[in-house]
Amino acid sequence: MNLSVGEPHFQPPPAVIKSLHTAIDEMKLDYTSVRGTVEFRETIAEYMTKSLGHRDVTADHVLTTTGAKFAIWLALSALLEPGSEVIVIKPYWTSYPEIVKINGGTPVFVDSDKDTGELPVENIINAVTSRTKAIIVCNPNNPSGVVYVVWCSSAKRKIISTLTHMNE
Ligand SMILES: Cc1ncc(COP(=O)(O)O)c(C=O)c1O
Repeated sequence: MNLSVGEPHFQPPPAVIKSLHTAIDEMKLDYTSVRGTVEFRETIAEYMTKSLGHRDVTADHVLTTTGAKFAIWLALSALLEPGSEVIVIKPYWTSYPEIVKINGGTPVFVDSDKDTGELPVENIINAVTSRTKAIIVCNPNNPSGVVYVVWCSSAKRKIISTLTHMNE
């Protein structure tokens, strides 16, 4: 079993394929907004509000990108400056440290728990310094497949509050 590239063993749902055909039939072939069409961003905002419970998300808060790595690249290019640190949980997707470095930052690696694969909250907090600008958490993790239960709990608030405090 290959636990690296996220190439699913199933095809897109028929409704997605049908709407691609429809878009072509309707000659929707021009460039769209780089941020994503308003309809697309509104749908994402609605999903974030209704399904994920985020408050007050509108289409104006949404920016779509061609792939996850580009989104992470954009975020880090806005956040990092020389000397910035980014905590990267091991095991990690192969590009994360390089995206940090190309944006002038230094990756700081924290191991997952070797028995459970869980996030070691105290180790993350201990790795936070005044130079920490981000923590990259891939959940569920690729390549290990572990779902970080800890990240869905109060531990997340503890980590974020430490990060915020150190950067004040
Ligand atoms: C965890 C993880 N990060 C990033 C990527 C790359 O994503 P994209 O091709 O959307 O940039 C993948 C692809 O499988 C992935 O599994």
